[in-house]
Amino acid sequence: MRIQPEQAESLVKQALAARENAYCPYSSFAVGAALLCGDGTVYTGCNVETAAFNGCCAERTAIFHAVADGKRDFTAIAVAGAGQGQEPDSLCTPCGVCRQVMREFCGPDFEIILTDGKNIQAVTLEELLPMAFGPDSLQ
Ligand code: THU
Repeated sequence: MRIQPEQAESLVKQALAARENAYCPYSSFAVGAALLCGDGTVYTGCNVETAAFNGCCAERTAIFHAVADGKRDFTAIAVAGAGQGQEPDSLCTPCGVCRQVMREFCGPDFEIILTDGKNIQAVTLEELLPMAFGPDSLQ
């Protein structure tokens, strides 16, 4: 883990808190995310669903929240998800669309911090999205 373990724990706590605001009446699966920027600030997000099934995951909500506030330099993101009203008991790994959005702004060392409720595990974006097509692919 490149970020300090205490920092990872703090991000997970913030992801769990953000999860409380999840709007997920269709899946009943509540997810929270907390994104650490290079300047030390943290942006949170939760999943937001719609009746037309075109909502947004917690990770993208957090990233778009930060980008809309002028931030583009990101270090790590914590993600926590489980059935609404339940505590996470397994890892909630980002979907393919979120991985691609991460790749838009982040390098291969960007850390994704996952929790099963007991332990914290860090993986890199390179591990989650190998051989990615990113902004550099269009140069
Ligand atoms: N979801 C996330 O917000 N993040 C993930 O990493 C996995 C899935 C959301 C999307 C949808 O609102 C619900 O969880 C069920 O897929």
